[in-house]
Amino acid sequence: MTRTNEVGETRVVGAVPATDAQPVYPHTMRLQRFLARAGVASRRGSEDLMTAGRVTVNGQVATELGTKVDVDRDHIEVDGMPVKLNQGAVYLMLYKPTGYLTTMSDPQERPCVADLVPRDRYPGLFPVGRLDRDTTGLLLFTTDGDLSQDLLHPSKHVYKTYQALVDGHLTDRDLGPLRRGIELDDGLCQPAICRVINAREAEAVAPQGVKPGTTAVEVIIREGRKNQVKRMLSKIHHPVIRLHRCNFAGLELEGVAKGSWRELTDREVQILKAGGIPPKQAVGKRAGAAATNAATRTRHHGSHGSAPKRNTYRERYTG
Ligand code: URA
Repeated sequence: MTRTNEVGETRVVGAVPATDAQPVYPHTMRLQRFLARAGVASRRGSEDLMTAGRVTVNGQVATELGTKVDVDRDHIEVDGMPVKLNQGAVYLMLYKPTGYLTTMSDPQERPCVADLVPRDRYPGLFPVGRLDRDTTGLLLFTTDGDLSQDLLHPSKHVYKTYQALVDGHLTDRDLGPLRRGIELDDGLCQPAICRVINAREAEAVAPQGVKPGTTAVEVIIREGRKNQVKRMLSKIHHPVIRLHRCNFAGLELEGVAKGSWRELTDREVQILKAGGIPPKQAVGKRAGAAATNAATRTRHHGSHGSAPKRNTYRERYTG
């Protein structure tokens, strides 16, 4: 731990002194920032904990707000409980509501998904792919760049299931062009798995029921082109009124309320690392046999994972 005095001198307090063999780590930060990043409290709340004498660094009470800590070396406790920064990669899912852009910052300061996830606690968190501003549903976030690249790479495209409420009446037969692979401005789409769904299944896009003159459909695709589902359905003359993603790579929004997030379970992370689980509609078809095998292996040999940690950013970080 170091303290900086009024004239800007910094001295080490209670930390292991550096030797030639032990280079000085540049990995220092203000104690209140460390506590906020570790998820103990907000920056302001962490300052209050410090001034209340509840925080110790290497056994010494740290009340000075200028206190800096070395995150690799100093031992920090709050109320006698050790506090550590999360070391490994982070994986979480957000139930994205409408009205939020899929970006971690917007120069025009419009609402964006970064406002809904614990970005202070997990620096480096970013969304895996994107959903349109008016699309709801499952959006993954991670700090694991390799996994994200894998999940988005065209050669490893995972299945994504969407529910759409569309304008007009259509039948399963009318979805034929989507099943065969429809031509869009940017090229031919891979065949989609799709069907008309009933009001009970379509709750996310038609909470008050499917009104006459509209139809609810499920569309499962592996690609991830811009506005793809909307463009596919517009192409068959049924523009999308509402769109919701209920499944990404086999993961579902289980236990997450709209606008909230939760960490993935160990098993869910394993599923992603195994390339996802294809939806049951795809099992037995050509698609996804390898992924099915990988997922089955995961299911048999993997850990069952912890229970989902339910959470809302607002609950935990405001008020
Ligand atoms: N397809 C779309 O058209 N929009 C989305 O947000 C996702 C898929």
